[in-house]
Amino acid sequence: MIPIGVLVSGRGSNLQAILRAVQRGYIRGAGVTVVISNRPAVRALEIARRANVPTMVIESAQFSGSRQEYDALLVDALERHGITGEGGLVLLAGFDRILSPFFVLHFRNRVMNIHPALLPSFTGLHAQEQALDYGVKIAGCTVHLVSPEVDAGPVIVQKSVRVREDDTPETLAARILREEHKAYPEAVKLFVEGRLKVDGRKVRVASRK
Ligand code: GRF
Repeated sequence: MIPIGVLVSGRGSNLQAILRAVQRGYIRGAGVTVVISNRPAVRALEIARRANVPTMVIESAQFSGSRQEYDALLVDALERHGITGEGGLVLLAGFDRILSPFFVLHFRNRVMNIHPALLPSFTGLHAQEQALDYGVKIAGCTVHLVSPEVDAGPVIVQKSVRVREDDTPETLAARILREEHKAYPEAVKLFVEGRLKVDGRKVRVASRK
């Protein structure tokens, strides 16, 4: 069983999609062993508890140490739940902190993130609004491996949506979110099945045996 740790900060809808995919047997041979939030009392923690998944809060707001010291607490907590640099998977699911190179290299090619835009376009915050303001006709989401540079790691899965004339940031974000809930389980499934081969910037997806 591949242990999965999910890092969250808020709503938790992507966490829910992953938990559901495991529960329904779409993702086999893996399970979420811990959900860690940097903020207390967020909905994602409630979702984890309802699914009987252990939760932890490692508050970042009042943390006085360095970024790397905070990340060392995350590494410790993940390792205690079986997620190591040699085995396991870390999913960022709305986690609102940038991870240090120390963390990323510790779990080299074992950390995924989901971003609500078709990378490399519209990195950073409010990606859906950026896309709308730019006037693109196709928007979407990206699941990628996390590298030390933000929103820049190798792409695993992308899904697109058409931008409508009457879209607002909210309506576009809602349509992209529905695709996120398909894209993230798909990427995790490919990882768990051992079908992702990282080759420089590219992730090659091996066909099913
Ligand atoms: C999603 O839009 C995701 O792409 C972005 O943060 C949001 C998290 O939403 N990284 P949720 O907490 O999974 O509902």
